[in-house]
Amino acid sequence: MNVKNLVALGALMPIFALSAAPASAAPSTITQKAFGTLKNGQKVTLFTLTNAQGMRAEIMNYGAIIRTLSVRDRNGKFGDVVLGFDTLGQYVKESPYFGTVAGRYANRIAKGRFTLDGKTYKLATNNGVNHLHGGVVGFDKRVWRARPFRTKNGPAIEMRLFSPAGEEGYPGSVNLRVIYTLDNANRLIVNYRAMTDAPTIFNPTQHSYFNLGGQGNGTILYHDLMLNANRFTPIDATSIPTGKLAPVAGTPFDFRRSLPIGARINSGGEQLKNGGGYDHNFVLNGTNGVLKFAARVEEPVSGRVLTVSTTEPGLQLYTGNFLKDLKGKGGKIYPYRGGFALEAQKFPDSPNNPQFPTSVLRPGQVYRQTTIYAFSTR
Ligand code: GLA
Repeated sequence: MNVKNLVALGALMPIFALSAAPASAAPSTITQKAFGTLKNGQKVTLFTLTNAQGMRAEIMNYGAIIRTLSVRDRNGKFGDVVLGFDTLGQYVKESPYFGTVAGRYANRIAKGRFTLDGKTYKLATNNGVNHLHGGVVGFDKRVWRARPFRTKNGPAIEMRLFSPAGEEGYPGSVNLRVIYTLDNANRLIVNYRAMTDAPTIFNPTQHSYFNLGGQGNGTILYHDLMLNANRFTPIDATSIPTGKLAPVAGTPFDFRRSLPIGARINSGGEQLKNGGGYDHNFVLNGTNGVLKFAARVEEPVSGRVLTVSTTEPGLQLYTGNFLKDLKGKGGKIYPYRGGFALEAQKFPDSPNNPQFPTSVLRPGQVYRQTTIYAFSTR
């Protein structure tokens, strides 16, 4: 079914709503509208995916950005739980990576340098001395090719991106396909698939900032967090891993039992100082490449629960330490620590740490990642 038919279906919705059909039997819909034009003339489209439960995701072809996730609380009331902007211009100007797919290599690479098959490559350095989230024009600032479609489990959108050899200094061209599916069980499923024509490094992630109490509704410090990680990767003063895997036991990084994010965030210590709060990669328990439970976050007032599972070996917890009263959607102000990100990924700077799971992608190999953000209430 093409978009026009889907839009037409969307228009029929109110008629269905008049019938006695229960909310859960509502058809899922996909609509689209223009979201603005970039300076170079490229048009940006915003797609709205609604599942049979009424949960809604707005996703745009700029940066493959998730702009809105509207989720019910325990009383059935919808609220938007991700941070974002009202206009395309703000997405271009501010770059907190709200909702983007970050890449080609999400997170940091020390001094933007790595060696692969004996050859040293120099990447853009856009975060002090380091490379961050793919460089100056990462995947988050590119226009992707979007194709919405329906599955039997709910609406979906396929996003495609071609990253040419040499882009931001990376060797090899990469063809990437990301599929977002908003299934009828209120799960946002993110599937990645990529191939290269020459050896390269590859590590995309989804960079949504969540506030389960509703975007712009204060800080996230009182959200309860549980992480399936016995170890984390400590960082230096420029947020580059030291190369060690440190046990979380006895540290403020121990979230093996659920605790408020803010319970120990200001407890001092070199690691929290280096990250300005939590901005660290956790080593997930379980097998690299196999889908496993990664994190659970519960917001006690709304009762909203987010459960993250992933095939990736690592999960970056970032607590919005760089946010500073930023004006977001609907004029809401995002304060310091007004959102948290849980970024499924390979470990930061893995190209310079052979003891970490590899991020090398070679011709003939297929890169795959599945990360699932599941919403429920309690
Ligand atoms: C990641 C990084 C943070 C920060 C944010 C974007 O989470 O680890 O240090 O750069 O992205 O602001």
